Amino acid sequence: MKVALLGCGVVGSQVARLLREQADDIAARVGAPFELAGVAVRRIDRPRDPALDPALLTTDAGALVTDPDVDVVIEVIGGVEPAKKLILEAMAKGKSVVTANKALLAQDGAALHRAARRNGVDLYYEASVAGAIPLLRPLRESLAGDRVTRVIGIVNGTTNYILDRMDSTGASFDDALQEAQALGYAEADPTADVEGFDAAAKAAILAGLAFHSRVTSADVHREGITRITAADIANARAMGYVIKLLAICARDDGHGVGVRVHPAMIPRTHPLAGVREAYNAVFVEARSAGRLMFYGAGAGGAPTASAVLGDLVAVARNRLAGVSGPSESVYAALPVHPMGET
Ligand code: HSE
Repeated sequence: MKVALLGCGVVGSQVARLLREQADDIAARVGAPFELAGVAVRRIDRPRDPALDPALLTTDAGALVTDPDVDVVIEVIGGVEPAKKLILEAMAKGKSVVTANKALLAQDGAALHRAARRNGVDLYYEASVAGAIPLLRPLRESLAGDRVTRVIGIVNGTTNYILDRMDSTGASFDDALQEAQALGYAEADPTADVEGFDAAAKAAILAGLAFHSRVTSADVHREGITRITAADIANARAMGYVIKLLAICARDDGHGVGVRVHPAMIPRTHPLAGVREAYNAVFVEARSAGRLMFYGAGAGGAPTASAVLGDLVAVARNRLAGVSGPSESVYAALPVHPMGET
């Protein structure tokens, strides 16, 4: 299996490291050796892990994804373009794709699924929501015979860290944000996290899988945490509540799907209230399975790379078995309520 890696930032560098360090184990588990064929980067001259062979680096991502020797493309560049163009080019050349790109999947996942089906290749994206937490595969596979009714979760680590610091230390939003930036959780431009765009993209992906419907980030009612004050947090605390940024995906029997992201007060006794720092947790309710909770590291290089490698193994197994998957199962096509209400 020859693997092309697009992007070598926080996640990409960890994917390259895991591929190097665990190549033998994974090869033994899968029954085929893995080899990193190339790493597409924006700039060659950045300081990088000295163990990464500089000969693998290229700025020509287009040539790498169409290289006839490459079997699988891992995309961890993020953002809609050029990621979308590169993924579609790779698929058109018969390569399977593993991506962590929530923005692209939430905006135009349907185009990627169509291309995967048309070209008979795999499209896996476990790392796009809640980092290391196995969540998309359980929704798509383990619960495929059940009827999921609600998915409620904390899916953005940065905002959970900020709200947790405000709650535990009485810090203002600005001070907690600065702390999150100093620790590397929040980006220099934290808009996508604090305004809820990141969580909305993840909610769209979760709702699509949970309800077999087509949901895009534009369908998600969204409100971020920038207007939460230290006084709001203190008042909630005095009443026995904690404020969390929640992604809420719900179906109302037969009538539609509502998806929303907003700060919510939850009782301190609720399991989601105990999710501290930059962790993520997702509650899934299904008719027969009942209530399930998924918890763990939702961001960060190594945890996200773990999910990417899991997908890579799935692709390898499919290839060896001569099958492609997983196919998108949009069959319910429930209407999506514009205000996220159900
Ligand atoms: N900015 C995201 C977060 C990274 O804080 O959760 C993982 O998607």
